[in-house]
Amino acid sequence: MGGALKASAIIASILLYSTIVIGSFVKALDAGLACGTDWPTCNGYIIPPDLFSDRSVLLEYMHRLVGGLASLFIIITFIYSMLYGRRQDKLLASITVLLIVVQVLLGMAVIKSYLDELIVALHLSFATASLVAASILAYSLATCKSS
Ligand code: HEM
Repeated sequence: MGGALKASAIIASILLYSTIVIGSFVKALDAGLACGTDWPTCNGYIIPPDLFSDRSVLLEYMHRLVGGLASLFIIITFIYSMLYGRRQDKLLASITVLLIVVQVLLGMAVIKSYLDELIVALHLSFATASLVAASILAYSLATCKSS
């Protein structure tokens, strides 16, 4: 099993945790609609002009950006696992990628619904589940002796 697979799984977990931390600040500082209801753009921009002058925009933007990077690394880990992983890695990677797809769609639903409380609660629940799955996968790969 390649070092690249282990590295991508660990990076994915760290990025996922960082997304959750930023997400809690978005919630605490009421910045959930700082990018409006646009997605994937922020107030109609790929890079909003007030990115560094408005704290709320910066927080919501970073939440989406780091979440996007985490998703990318989860997809890379999934592809690597399918190619080089053991049976258990394939299963864990499939569960993780499924959870992250639902999580990103829920993120979109959170803003499109103007922060509906039930959807926000689901978004938090799936964030936790995604991190658990990604962390177990990273641990399983990191402690695999056959590398
Ligand atoms: C890897 C993907 C993501 C993870 C792990 C994640 C995680 C979180 C977490 C933990 C919170 C705090 C929730 C709370 O305290 O109740 C949050 C808030 C939020 N997230 Fe995400 N998120 C992700 C992607 C997204 C995406 C793609 C969007 C938008 C398109 C988004 C939009 C939001 C919004 C608007 C809030 C604030 C909700 C509020 O103020 O009530 N998230 N996210």
